[in-house]
Amino acid sequence: MKNKHLLSLSLFICVCTMLTAQEIAIIPRPAHLTVEEGCFKFDNRLKAKVPPYQGDSVRILFDAFKNEFRKATDIRISPTRRDAEAAIILELNRQLPAEGYHLNVSTKQIRIEAARPAGFYYALQTLKQLMPRNVMAGVPAPSHEEWSIPAVSIKDTPRFEWRGFMLDEGRHFFGKDEIKRVIDMMATYKMNRFHWHLTEDQGWRIEIKKYPRLTEIGAWRNSNTLTYGSVKTDTERYGGFYSRKDIKEIVDYARQRFIEIIPEIDIPGHSQAAVAAYPEFLSCDPENPHEVWLSQGISTDVINIAHPKAMQFAKDVIDELTDLFPFGYIHLGGDECPTDKWKKNEDCKRLLKEIGSDNFRDLQIYFYKQLKDYMATKPADKQRQLIFWNEVLHGNTDILGNDITIMAWVGANQAARQAATRGMHTILTPQIPYYINRKQSNLPTEPMSQGHGTETVEAVYNYQPMKDVDEKLQPYYKGVQANFWTEWVTTPSVLEYLMLPRLAAVAEAGWTPQDKRNYEDFKTRICRDAMLYELKGWNYGKHIMK
Ligand code: ACM
Repeated sequence: MKNKHLLSLSLFICVCTMLTAQEIAIIPRPAHLTVEEGCFKFDNRLKAKVPPYQGDSVRILFDAFKNEFRKATDIRISPTRRDAEAAIILELNRQLPAEGYHLNVSTKQIRIEAARPAGFYYALQTLKQLMPRNVMAGVPAPSHEEWSIPAVSIKDTPRFEWRGFMLDEGRHFFGKDEIKRVIDMMATYKMNRFHWHLTEDQGWRIEIKKYPRLTEIGAWRNSNTLTYGSVKTDTERYGGFYSRKDIKEIVDYARQRFIEIIPEIDIPGHSQAAVAAYPEFLSCDPENPHEVWLSQGISTDVINIAHPKAMQFAKDVIDELTDLFPFGYIHLGGDECPTDKWKKNEDCKRLLKEIGSDNFRDLQIYFYKQLKDYMATKPADKQRQLIFWNEVLHGNTDILGNDITIMAWVGANQAARQAATRGMHTILTPQIPYYINRKQSNLPTEPMSQGHGTETVEAVYNYQPMKDVDEKLQPYYKGVQANFWTEWVTTPSVLEYLMLPRLAAVAEAGWTPQDKRNYEDFKTRICRDAMLYELKGWNYGKHIMK
């Protein structure tokens, strides 16, 4: 396998003049790409001109590129201010969209135009994909004669502003190093939103200064395995969480790769770990014992919305999230929230009467409304848009207002359309086929996970976002996201196996115009990334990489 890749790598270096657009393996496929005559040949030393930009941010990202590039190729790039001596020119073009770029490679020069740092970053990611995969991997090539890339003209910009990946760390915890690897995978494919599902019935994974028991108690449970059917618990003391210092480190790492992090605190459902930590004010029945959950599924042990301290708790958690995550959104969950315990609790029943409803789902909406109003009292730089799972649409959203974002997962196409019709932004994350923790094949080697093996790479690739959506609703569709739930997934290796290469398929749906997407063409291009995955040590589904 490896030798085959090395062969194609050396062919690629020598015969770039013969490449066609299909043979250039850029993922996601650029909006416009034409292959020109000839190659650009790299000298061992060359000069680059980089434009000044606020905060020196273009120079900083170019320096990072330069250092990685040198590690992989031994080519030294030094700065110049003169066009005449620059082999690489980065130039501001304020006319281009925020994440768009132009990349022109001629036999004499590489020229990149963008309006913002993100556009320059994506252009450089594309440039690396024009080269052998060791360049993207940042590792030295085994041997080479000369470095060259085909002359091309690329005019590129993403179809959607939201190209996301969600990881559930409530069920299983992977830790800082694995999160950085996930961020690297996302950056490879120009994805820009990491949705971090940090709390669940089975574990609370983020340090909150004001409520230390959330991690002293809520981050730990008495079994690694979560029970399901005949599957029983084990005896491992299992858990973990991210300290504030860890979070800051990961936020910096993601920012350098133009990825925003959306923390999710799933409340008031999926909250048994928090309830176990503070039953005296979060539980609907504090007199009973509560523990971090050891089972798969949906716990009925939800937060007691009618307790004044529960509301204060949620506000305090939001304050700390706002400080830690300097981005535009916070996700408050909202999926699968059983109302059984509220129906038996006198305070909840009284509160429902007070708000003039007989639908217990409206208690949840009332809770969110208080939190949204609280958010509105914050200074502008601390305000965040709230995101919810699409079950929230089952309550009276009139009181919540339409300036929220709905993540559409169950009955996703219909839910997204419903949200857009109500004037809400929406993100498509259809359970079938975008839950990429589900088995990706029927092969006997497939690890234990959910599904029937029908969420194949092809099925994921062929989902068409925003298909047949009325033109006037389209502006409400912000983009797409793959989700990864971890009831069954306990190791980084299985996580990566299930992610790759399906993550790339979703990334292309988010970036490339629908009429430029074709599975057979994708399959040809993704095969080249087997080399990248091998070099990075990322596990992946190998069955289509042939
Ligand atoms: C979900 O899958 N419960 C959002």
